[in-house]
Amino acid sequence: MSKKPIVLIIDDDPIVHKILGVWLDKAGCEVMEARRGREGLDMAVRNQPDLIMLDVMMPEMGGFEVCRRLKAEAKTSSIPVIFLSARSDNPDKIQGLEAGAVDYISKPFDLGEVMARINLQVKLKQQGDQLREYTMRLEAMVEDRTRQLIHAERLVSLGTLSAGIAHEINNPTTFILGNILMMERFWEVISEPLASMSASGSHPKIGYIVKEVPLMIQAMKKGTRRITNIVSGLKAFARQEPAVKSEVDVNECVTEALKLTRHRLKYHVRVVKNLDPLLPKVHGSAQQLVQVFVNLMINAADAIGESDGLLKITTRPESKNMVRIEFTDNGPGMPPEIKAKIFDPFFTTKPVGQGTGLGLSISHGIIHDHGGAITVESEPGKGVSFFLTLPVEKTDEDTND
Ligand SMILES: Nc1ncnc2c1ncn2[C@@H]1O[C@H](COP(=O)(O)OP(=O)(O)OP(=O)(O)O)[C@@H](O)[C@H]1O
Ligand SMILES: [Mg+2]
Repeated sequence: MSKKPIVLIIDDDPIVHKILGVWLDKAGCEVMEARRGREGLDMAVRNQPDLIMLDVMMPEMGGFEVCRRLKAEAKTSSIPVIFLSARSDNPDKIQGLEAGAVDYISKPFDLGEVMARINLQVKLKQQGDQLREYTMRLEAMVEDRTRQLIHAERLVSLGTLSAGIAHEINNPTTFILGNILMMERFWEVISEPLASMSASGSHPKIGYIVKEVPLMIQAMKKGTRRITNIVSGLKAFARQEPAVKSEVDVNECVTEALKLTRHRLKYHVRVVKNLDPLLPKVHGSAQQLVQVFVNLMINAADAIGESDGLLKITTRPESKNMVRIEFTDNGPGMPPEIKAKIFDPFFTTKPVGQGTGLGLSISHGIIHDHGGAITVESEPGKGVSFFLTLPVEKTDEDTND
């Protein structure tokens, strides 16, 4: 239902207020009254009326000047003004319209005609407001869509690049790791004779070598494992293996993800689950959804750090066709400039070696591939909430609809 139109009458004549007030009230308008120009200007800024009825001849500040000021002020410039005047000569009418008024009515006026003109202007103003609102909404949507398209385009080229890099790195890494494992076995064979040579004291440097080589092998294995992890992250990001989707129980995925992250969470993160037992099944890949949930849980644990924290996980139906999953932690939260980048591939605030910065961009890809959405809300010092929506699995009944 649309709200009552507000009409502001600026006139020093109390009779005009009385007559117009009664009629406007009868016509369903909310009436505001000002006796002086300056008072009327203040009321217009404060109350944003849909129409102003303005007297031409007033003490202190005349109607033409009031009208010019209304049109010069951004907050009141779009409010239509109708002049009311005892004078009906043409130069006055022209001056009124030049000052920005939409109409000019001479006193004594015919009430029926005045009301018809008022109704027309109120309607035009309301339509204009609606149009402005639609335009603003449309502009925001276009801006949003453009941003999404630019992001999607960047992701596609990054995906292709990542797939290439992953492939190129994977092969040499595999043979490096193979050789390290062979070296480890060779070392087992020769380390003992070398140790006894060192004990005999004939080669003073051998003792040092016997001590250092196993450490070097371990360091090389650790480094190679890190490369393998990054490569598998890149592969997932490039989504080389499309997931097979079927009916999935989101609550079970949450429980599974909690099992996988138990060791990471148990010392300092209390998990509060609020899982709707009647949650409809979704259409998706359980393995991928578990991957998304694990990343959100680890991120929350990393953010909470050493302090005791809380992670709330909620599942509930969002609508007939969507379910909603929320992860809310009470960690340090993030400032807007970080929040703006967290879905970007390779964006991380974690120390080198601890995060690849691919977790959320992969999750974003997975959830969108499922036809859902992932959004985040956060204020520094107040924790972070991730909101996910996923489409419900269609039943045969739905398909037959
Ligand atoms: N719950 C959270 N609280 C505070 N910051 C967060 C939270 N979740 C994510 N972030 C921020 O978003 C960044 C990106 O997260 P993302 O999961 O993509 O990568 P990562 O965790 O750094 O690395 P990876 O997931 O590859 O191990 C994080 O480095 C962190 O700065
Ligand atoms: Mg992560």
